[in-house]
Amino acid sequence: MKSAFIVAVILFRVLLLNIQVAAQHTTGSHDSLYRPRIHFSPKAHWMNDPNGMVYYKGTYHLFYQYHPYSSVWGPMHWGHATSRNLIHWEHQPIAIYPDSLGTIFSGSAVVDINNTSGFGSKGQVPLVAIFTQHDEKAEKAGKNDFQNQSLAYSLDDGKTWSKYDGNPVLQNPGIRDFRDPKVMWHQPTKKWIMSLAVADRIFFYSSPDLKKWSKESEFGESAGAHGGVWECPDLFSLDYDGRALWVLVVSLNPGGPNKGSATQYFIGDFDGKNFSPYNTETKWLDYGPDDYAGITWSGTGNRKIFLGWMSNWMYANIVPTESWRSAATLPRELKIKNTGNDMLIASQPVKELSAIRSKPFIRNNIFLGKPFHLAPNTGPVKFPCLLDLAMDQVKDFSITLLNEAGNELVIGYDGKNNRYFIDRTRSGNVGFHQEFAAIHTAPRFSSSSKMDMTLVIDVSSAELFADDGLTVMTQLFFPHAPFTKITIQSAEGAVIKKLEYSVLKEGR
Ligand code: FRU
Repeated sequence: MKSAFIVAVILFRVLLLNIQVAAQHTTGSHDSLYRPRIHFSPKAHWMNDPNGMVYYKGTYHLFYQYHPYSSVWGPMHWGHATSRNLIHWEHQPIAIYPDSLGTIFSGSAVVDINNTSGFGSKGQVPLVAIFTQHDEKAEKAGKNDFQNQSLAYSLDDGKTWSKYDGNPVLQNPGIRDFRDPKVMWHQPTKKWIMSLAVADRIFFYSSPDLKKWSKESEFGESAGAHGGVWECPDLFSLDYDGRALWVLVVSLNPGGPNKGSATQYFIGDFDGKNFSPYNTETKWLDYGPDDYAGITWSGTGNRKIFLGWMSNWMYANIVPTESWRSAATLPRELKIKNTGNDMLIASQPVKELSAIRSKPFIRNNIFLGKPFHLAPNTGPVKFPCLLDLAMDQVKDFSITLLNEAGNELVIGYDGKNNRYFIDRTRSGNVGFHQEFAAIHTAPRFSSSSKMDMTLVIDVSSAELFADDGLTVMTQLFFPHAPFTKITIQSAEGAVIKKLEYSVLKEGR
């Protein structure tokens, strides 16, 4: 009797342990199924916008909106990561914590080479962060001036940060949405220029020392898209044909071309006071639903490297990951290109990505009279991977990612409507938000008779760069099992002039 009891207890314990292990495994494997391999994501918990991106002494700093205690949005801190090659990131301790002035919303950081701020001591160049402090108590008390701009500085090349004791440096004039300062040095006027998102427009301020700010102008009330509030601006010059043109990037939520959050831009001139766009039509940096609040690194000279938050406020808080939530897009290099009709910004994954490309599988002249299956040729298709396609004609085609669970992600070009598309309606776990299962489209801007497409596919995201990056789409997906196959087809019998497939190596 006694031994039967002992056996029962042991069996019960084994059962309990199995249940626990299974539970851990489900959570663990679920999260590891979706955890990006070549994109930055926080070790644990919630992130949104990239912040304070600055390059100094060979290190790229990435700060980001971070909630260290939960996997949904909450009181914001600045998380921190560093990289020497834009691809491999090292997690660093939290850089900036909330204080009595509020939580730490989005902003930027600069290298104050000339120590205009006076924060530098003993010859140490200060890095200065400029960010919004969001005072929740004041907001709850019904006040309008709860977002103000503050400074923090680092005297050890970005490792640790101290708040300026004169914060806030830019007081709210009584406008509820007054945030996301992006600061740059304007050499012709020898002043710092801050772009600030103020409800439905951008305010520009100038400062000699990052501490005293004077308003210069406003832009945007009647320009571009206005389906929602303007956020996260970025003003910078970009070389085009030997001339420096000015680009103003502005995020918008909601009101994107495929619903929810998205990022628009304007190209024009900036004289230290006013931004004058060449035209005020809406142009989108990325047509996919999952690239928001992106800005560029400061300190990189003429090279402009952009990074976005790879999600959308429509569903960011409920995407099916648990221990962490959200990732950044791939870093992208921005260039201005003339399409014949217009000047547009083209984005391409940074060249540093090639360092993690394994030897490519290359195939020329694939006639798509019948579907082309990548797997039998290459062995099982592995992700993350990079797929490059070049064609000598403009014809319909589609690339389908498949798995054993019967999920599909379809990416392609639709000639009738002259547009690219990504269809994630059957991509697996789509039911967590009514807008997630959708077909998203983006116009083709190139008028060339040739087509090219670079696709970077991680385990839960696809980034499409078509026609040398003139059309860009970023998209999340959450399959029930890893994708293992890629099939390419064309109802019009397109020919792929050259296909390159490379697995992207994880780790360092
Ligand atoms: C954009 C944004 C910013 C704000 C931050 C708060 O996604 O709404 O305007 O500073 O997120 O986390």
